Amino acid sequence: MDFMKKYVRKHWKLFLVAVFFVMLEALADLLQPTIMSHILDVGVAEKRLDYVLKMGGIMLMITAFGAVAASMRNIVASHVSQKFGTELRADLFAKMQSLSFTNIERFERASLITRLTNDVTQVQNFVNGLMRIFVKAPLLCIGSLIMAVRLNMHLAVVLLIVVPIVGILVALNLKVGFARYVNVQKALDGVNRVIREYLSGVRVVKAFNRFDHEADKFQKTNIEYQDKSIQVTRLLAIFNPSILLTVNFGIVAVLWLGSWRVNQHQMQVGHIVAFVNYMTQILFALLTISMVFNMFVRAKASATRIGEVFNQLNEMTWDDKAELPAHRPGGRIDFANVSFAYEGAAGEPVLKQINLTCLPGETVGIIGSTGSGKSSLVSLVPRFYDASSGEIRVDGVNIRQLDPAKLRDRIAIVPQNTILFSGTIEENLHWGNEHATREEIEQAATMAQAHSFIVGFPEGYGTRLGQKGVNLSGGQKQRLSIARALVRKPDILILDDCTSALDTATETEIKKSLKVFASGVTCLIIAQRITSVMDADKIVVMDDGEIVGIGTHEMLLESCKVYVEICQSQFGKELPHHVKAE
Ligand code: GTP
Ligand code: MG
Repeated sequence: MDFMKKYVRKHWKLFLVAVFFVMLEALADLLQPTIMSHILDVGVAEKRLDYVLKMGGIMLMITAFGAVAASMRNIVASHVSQKFGTELRADLFAKMQSLSFTNIERFERASLITRLTNDVTQVQNFVNGLMRIFVKAPLLCIGSLIMAVRLNMHLAVVLLIVVPIVGILVALNLKVGFARYVNVQKALDGVNRVIREYLSGVRVVKAFNRFDHEADKFQKTNIEYQDKSIQVTRLLAIFNPSILLTVNFGIVAVLWLGSWRVNQHQMQVGHIVAFVNYMTQILFALLTISMVFNMFVRAKASATRIGEVFNQLNEMTWDDKAELPAHRPGGRIDFANVSFAYEGAAGEPVLKQINLTCLPGETVGIIGSTGSGKSSLVSLVPRFYDASSGEIRVDGVNIRQLDPAKLRDRIAIVPQNTILFSGTIEENLHWGNEHATREEIEQAATMAQAHSFIVGFPEGYGTRLGQKGVNLSGGQKQRLSIARALVRKPDILILDDCTSALDTATETEIKKSLKVFASGVTCLIIAQRITSVMDADKIVVMDDGEIVGIGTHEMLLESCKVYVEICQSQFGKELPHHVKAE
């Protein structure tokens, strides 16, 4: 819970202001029963109307005073808790952004969302409550105890029995409750996960008519959430009435004991009324305290989950002094004995002993069957992941020493799964480089063969994508994604199978313009089709995480069995030797 310190340090002054007002409010509440007992015992018993009016006036003033204090603490408490919640959410979001892929993958996405929304709200509510009722309840409880004892020592014996019993009940409640609240939170994660999956795959769900299946899945998690929540409410259903019952027994005892003493003329009626009043205040304070504990338990479970994210140490380290050489364009990449395994995948390496050099300005094609590790290989270059062993150098600098942000400044990547953001086309292209001029953007779009279809839209570059905007075809998206990378003017350009949805004619056009653009830029081009990489300076053939051949098309046809097999599967058995680079 270390992360809370920062906010405590920042907000404690206003917090104390709120607590101050709560104290005034509690004081007003505490004075009421005593004044009332005076009215009864003096004013009513002695039939003194002036006294009743005078004390009534005082009571009214104290109530007004309490109301003002209550409004003030409401204002302050809302302000502090809202600020606290907003800051916590912002910090958590920033932390999530700073985490490496490996760190993030340790959490389920759904659970990250719940942490950012529901968990933060829980903690925020608790902080709010802390300033509103939580401080007031103990104050009222202890204050009422003191006032009650001062009022009448004999009746206070009842409290001696009632208070410890209630204390034990509250403690028990706390002990049993914690694990259950944690379960509720986990179940809510489950609900969020199913919704997220459903929404992101809604087309597939509908296409396969799997709606019932999804509905079942949702129903299951929903019921699970219900069951866990019921378990918690059951707990409350047992404990709250027990507390109520205990205190009510206490009140009956006070009435009985009091009436007996009044009959003996050892006590006045007003004392009994005031004492019962104090006991009711104690009762409500105790109920609030047990509610406080429940909220505390819930907030603690949430805070623990938030803390887990904050405690993720970013494993990616770097040396602030390390810089890439200033001369541009650079773009040499060296893989030296690189092996790599994803975390949690039973340590099974997906890349084994990779040795590869890409010279500045070279176009390197990467080909291999699906799952052979092509995407994994290129994801190591921008440090999405760190290699498990071996060394990767960019322009001679070991990338483990480089700040990923600096490294990624020089790299543009077109990922295998096209991702565009909601916003206009122009905004999406600006992502590549926020300083790009309109001309540069249009130039990049032209090279990626996207300009013509963009200007075909009525709103051209101002066309909105995503929610409430147009939906692009797969190939159109790929072309925008390529244009976005070109806008960046990188030293290293990585294209991960990004022409798969394009027809061969468009692909050829893009390749032609890339040739012009890419003079001086190191290009890593992953492709499924041999024709996409045939004319590269060199082609890397991957198989099951290993490089099984490096060379030009002709060389590989002579020397690499896997390459020949891929060729044969794409061109037919007898063709390989006739297929020549354009
Ligand atoms: P295609 O894109 O289908 O042509 O395959 P690829 O050659 O790009 O393969 P990729 O590098 O994506 O995957 C290589 C191996 O790594 C496969 O066995 C995957 O199951 C595994 N893999 C890929 N991504 C992840 C990941 O994010 N986490 C884990 N644990 N394994 C992954
Ligand atoms: Mg891939």
